[in-house]
Amino acid sequence: MVLYSKLSSEQLHAKFEEIKQLYDEFKDKGLDLNMARGKPSPAQLDMSMDIFDSVNALNGYSAEDGTDCRNYGNLTGLEECKTIFAQALGVQNDNIIVCGNSSLNIMFDYISQCMTHGTGNGNKPWMLQGNIKFACPVPGYDRHFSILEYFGIEMINIPMLETGPDIDVLEEVVMDPSVKGMFCVPKYSNPQGYTFSDETVKRIAALKPAANDFRIIWDNAYFVHDIYEDGDTLLNIFPEAAKRGTEDMIIEVASTSKVSFPGAGVAVVSASENNVRMFKQRMNAQIIGHDKINQLRHARVLKDANGLREYMKRHAVILKPKFDIVLQTLERDLGECGIATWTKPKGGYFVSLDVMEGCAKRVVELCRRAGVVLTNAGATYPYGKDPKDTNIRIAPSFPSLDELRQAMVILCLAVKLAALEKLIDEE
Ligand SMILES: Cc1ncc(COP(=O)(O)O)c(C=O)c1O
Repeated sequence: MVLYSKLSSEQLHAKFEEIKQLYDEFKDKGLDLNMARGKPSPAQLDMSMDIFDSVNALNGYSAEDGTDCRNYGNLTGLEECKTIFAQALGVQNDNIIVCGNSSLNIMFDYISQCMTHGTGNGNKPWMLQGNIKFACPVPGYDRHFSILEYFGIEMINIPMLETGPDIDVLEEVVMDPSVKGMFCVPKYSNPQGYTFSDETVKRIAALKPAANDFRIIWDNAYFVHDIYEDGDTLLNIFPEAAKRGTEDMIIEVASTSKVSFPGAGVAVVSASENNVRMFKQRMNAQIIGHDKINQLRHARVLKDANGLREYMKRHAVILKPKFDIVLQTLERDLGECGIATWTKPKGGYFVSLDVMEGCAKRVVELCRRAGVVLTNAGATYPYGKDPKDTNIRIAPSFPSLDELRQAMVILCLAVKLAALEKLIDEE
């Protein structure tokens, strides 16, 4: 293997022919492989079926405090369910509200609440404040961007570093009073799998935004999702915020979508006393209570934070070989070409691949033609616009090991082919 940038014109053309032939062989196979979305595999879902058996006529429907979970009531959720999340997130039960099946839903509702009713500290609703903006660490999670786009909130790119969002840039951006918040994924970020360093967490907690209705949506979606034994540790932001009196700035969410079932799990928000009060006020008008039977199911099976962590080890057994395939194939096929870089996360659901500038769209297209579906190039940036057209999100969880092996070989061929096309074009 050689650095592509060092190849002579003749070598470039020869390499192109060689890779094109290999690629065409795969193209003719009519494969149908999908590495687009971070969905658990059927084997992971099968693993959680005990959740359904834990609540039935034999086991009863009563919560620990005697609540009949089949009936109305209990706006903020079952205490035993709060305890699991409170322990795992390092907060008090009173700071937790257990909601429905989706943390994305909680985030959407919270932004909606801020738009129509403000943040609750005497400021006008966001929608009455003219053009407002959010800081967006990039690359990031496309569905955060969709929420902001839906509400017409302008997005400002903040580069992600291995330590988290570039905090120097962020500190400057929040000096604009029209910047009202930030979505971020502090542990095993989507898509890079980075975990914010202690210093980043402390500096985020210490932010002094010009807007005093600035809010950070701390989307801790991968809070217990270690894949390798030496997983990352995220500093708990709430004690840091408490030291600086900024607890109201942080809205943390998490869910069991990738613990039990996406779409049939349990999601929570963890927030300050003031923010919990605001949430309850709105929820009082919105719902009588979320699905307590599902909360009870989860509480009975997971039991406590240790139970939750043990549960996650079973996922890691399934996910680790998949991440190994992705990382080993990238290293084997692209390691010495100098045309791509990628992250090596210890948990979460994604690997982030950066290809040569201007090539990401082409790589995704080449993969599609060979039967491999990837997340659209650009999706990891606000408005679907990756300014350098380099980033591709790899989601290894859903395909089988065999499918993943094939898909990764095709992806690497596509990365090479797109790079060679570009280098030849630039000659
Ligand atoms: C960062 C992040 N947040 C939230 C979600 C969705 O969470 P939920 O299923 O709880 O709505 C995902 C799903 O991929 C995610 O990656």
